[in-house]
Amino acid sequence: MKKITILGSSGSIGTQILDIVSKIKGYVCVEGLAVGSNIKLLKSQIKKFKPKAVSVNSAFDAKNLKKWSKTNNIKIAVYNGPKGLEKLAVMPSTDMMFASIVGSAGLQSVVAAVKAKKDVAVANKESLIMAGKYIMNLATENGVSILPVDSEHSAIFQCCDGEKKSQIKRILLTASGGPFYRYDKDFSKITIEQALDHPTWKMGKKITIDSATLMNKGLEAIEASVLFGVSIEKVEIVIHPQSIVHSMIEYIDGSVIAQLSSHDMHLPIQYALTYPERLPSNIKPLNLFEVGKLEFYKPDFNKFPCLNLAYYSAKKGYTVPAVMSVADEVAVAAFLNKKIKFTDIAKIVEKTIKSHKISKNISLDTLFEADLWARQYAEKIIKKEI
Ligand SMILES: NC(=O)c1ccc[n+]([C@@H]2O[C@H](COP(=O)([O-])OP(=O)(O)OC[C@H]3O[C@@H](n4cnc5c(N)ncnc54)[C@H](OP(=O)(O)O)[C@@H]3O)[C@@H](O)[C@H]2O)c1
Repeated sequence: MKKITILGSSGSIGTQILDIVSKIKGYVCVEGLAVGSNIKLLKSQIKKFKPKAVSVNSAFDAKNLKKWSKTNNIKIAVYNGPKGLEKLAVMPSTDMMFASIVGSAGLQSVVAAVKAKKDVAVANKESLIMAGKYIMNLATENGVSILPVDSEHSAIFQCCDGEKKSQIKRILLTASGGPFYRYDKDFSKITIEQALDHPTWKMGKKITIDSATLMNKGLEAIEASVLFGVSIEKVEIVIHPQSIVHSMIEYIDGSVIAQLSSHDMHLPIQYALTYPERLPSNIKPLNLFEVGKLEFYKPDFNKFPCLNLAYYSAKKGYTVPAVMSVADEVAVAAFLNKKIKFTDIAKIVEKTIKSHKISKNISLDTLFEADLWARQYAEKIIKKEI
């Protein structure tokens, strides 16, 4: 029985993890759950999965949850805030943590879990963008695995299992292209509703907007470079509108290995959960005759400037990817709050990274300093104070 903790259990990824846990009964048991503010959903998850501990964002919600658990005769530890996430991350009884919180709020708990020698399944790509090398080195030191949850990275992971990483020539990272790949109207007039209408994947709001600007693909390129230890120049983005090939690896002998399936996040989540085993799943079987054709196109870096910004940040390294990721988080939130236009997202990210003084001394402290600086700087741009 694998004992897991899920941070972000009320989100798109978190609820899908719990869906799989219910389907593979007897294989996994849930020790801890954390949400931000969706207490209603957390209560129903507590009743169903009976975790030993939970964490919520605010002290007020935690207090009420403690009262509720007493009234309902439920024995459970209730924590709150960043410290609460850390408590769950290091729970002695767990084997593995699922990092499925959105944004930089997920970083500290990933580091805490690795230090406590827990395997970590990472959906929270922002933590790998911000502190990729730091986390991977820490994982090696502590002898734990960092397992990918993103469908593309799960595909790459499956394509290089048993292979020598030194023999990878290129990673071909596929992308659906998002809702605007063929859009030829004015990008500055794109509405929130249009940007949230992703053609293939149903996801949380932040990643859906990132998929529309293609920043998500830029973040994924950096994530691939970190997870698989290859330079960013060896990660090539390929637009593949059918979302059937989830990514590929080209080896030095010219062989290209791909992973294909119907597009359903349940598969990469389940693989991270059961690795190195495979269990039957409920995903729609792939019918290539129904799919008919698989298309591949080059991405347009001019139409989607966030791609350029991601590669630029990865090449600069040090604190720059963290600054880019945080500036993007702030800009996406501002777009969702109708404070800026769709096209301002890339402009805010660019202005922030170009104004950043790189710190070459990488520690969690310098990364958090860079996070704070980028957050405040991007917010000033939005308020037109800069
Ligand atoms: N969705 C996908 O298909 C997909 C695919 C690949 C990778 N990812 C990555 O997975 C991560 C999660 O994405 P998502 O789509 O599941 O996002 P989402 O639906 O917006 O869910 C985010 C989760 O994080 C929780 N959360 C946010 N801030 C928190 C905080 N400060 N403390 C504790 N919990 C907090 C939210 O809790 P409340 O809702 O209770 O506030 C929610 O449970 C992202 O990094 C994303 O890039 C997602």
